[in-house]
Amino acid sequence: MPANLESLHRFHSYCARFSSEVVEQIITEHTREDDNVFDPFCGSGTALVAALANKRKAIGMDIDILAGMLSEIKCEPRSHSDYSRWRQGFVLEIDRIFETIAKNIHLITTANLEPGMSWLVGDLKLHVPTLPKVNYWFPPELIAVLAAIADLAHRQDPHFEKVVLISLSASIIAKWPNTLSYAMDIDHTRPHRREQNLTLSQVRELFLKRLDRTLTCLSGLYDAYKAVGVSNKLKDYSWVIYPHDARQPSGLMPDESQDLVMTSPPYFNAVDYPRSHMLSVCWMNGHAPEELSSRRSYVGLHSSLDFDAVSWFQSHKAIYEHLPELLLHDKGLIRRLGSFFSDLENALIQTWRVLKPGGWAVFIIGSNVIKGERIESHRALANLAKVIGFNGIEVSPREIASPRRRFPVGPFGFNGPMKHEYIVRMQKSRLSSG
Ligand SMILES: C[S@@+](CC[C@H](N)C(=O)[O-])C[C@H]1O[C@@H](n2cnc3c(N)ncnc32)[C@H](O)[C@@H]1O
Repeated sequence: MPANLESLHRFHSYCARFSSEVVEQIITEHTREDDNVFDPFCGSGTALVAALANKRKAIGMDIDILAGMLSEIKCEPRSHSDYSRWRQGFVLEIDRIFETIAKNIHLITTANLEPGMSWLVGDLKLHVPTLPKVNYWFPPELIAVLAAIADLAHRQDPHFEKVVLISLSASIIAKWPNTLSYAMDIDHTRPHRREQNLTLSQVRELFLKRLDRTLTCLSGLYDAYKAVGVSNKLKDYSWVIYPHDARQPSGLMPDESQDLVMTSPPYFNAVDYPRSHMLSVCWMNGHAPEELSSRRSYVGLHSSLDFDAVSWFQSHKAIYEHLPELLLHDKGLIRRLGSFFSDLENALIQTWRVLKPGGWAVFIIGSNVIKGERIESHRALANLAKVIGFNGIEVSPREIASPRRRFPVGPFGFNGPMKHEYIVRMQKSRLSSG
């Protein structure tokens, strides 16, 4: 077994992350060295890292920009000495930013901070994000600092640009009060606002601490990849496709090309990724989509108003029969459930398409509680897999240890912290194709 990978993910939090240990075990069980592992809902890249650290090729896909960027830097880390060299020059530039902002602090008011405005502070040209309530979530001098750091990020080479933007994001998506915003619980579903007064030197210290943690973890990943001989061929061994909707085919993913699909799709009604990422993605100018909080393509979040649940459940009777009886009268809920299961079906169809004959797919999914009733998503998933043609379908429950895999608590689906999830395994027949 390679290095302890779990600790090397701890530079940026991500809701509902896999346990490294579990995915490593599944990957090593179902694949051999140099095989291809694909995660169509890769999130923060846990499966990709586990694949690379075990000398497998890794392809990730996600609809979310932050997920894509986070996964990408974990798949292309540099050595400790590369990061130290780069850091020396970068910190000098950071210091210049803070000096300029301190000198011009009297000019920085909300008047020149309307969303989408560009403004000059000394020789710093700053762009205010188009986020509608940017002034509500960030105080003026923090907007200036974050905009200046984002601008400095865009002047780095592509790897270091992402390193800076992800560290900036980690400084915002952090537990209050160690966060560079007024948002509490930002990594959960709905942030609450709470003001705090950070001095410029505290802001500098907080950001650099995050940056250093990013560099330490990334160089640790580099060492883990080096230990298995892939650190010098990461360009051939990994690839992250984003933003891409896993329900749709991607021309970049050939048919029958993958040995294992190892993934965890969103759970019904669970995590509002666009909302919890919006305060940090807004600083990634040039990377972020126009409509930052769009839910249009997120599984489990997009609108289901046009979804014809009656027809869908008619052709998926076995799934309907397993829905809790007490919920059947709630037409809106049934429509949203049908739409969610149909998203899983489409993701499974793409999984089937890209798997080599004989290849395995392993999905980890939770079964949450709605109005006191358990929705058995794992059972629906297994049923859909059977209809699509997978063999050897096996469902095993797994206890979620401690708060590592974090989910929101409350009315959006979970009846207290999640304690269980299910591992659903399936195999594409060796003979079949198409
Ligand atoms: C449970 S998380 C995966 C976490 C991941 N296993 C990890 O360890 O970080 C589900 C992911 O699905 C992504 N997602 C939601 N809808 C998607 C879609 N239509 N296509 C691709 N990814 C999507 C979310 O952005 C989120 O990153």
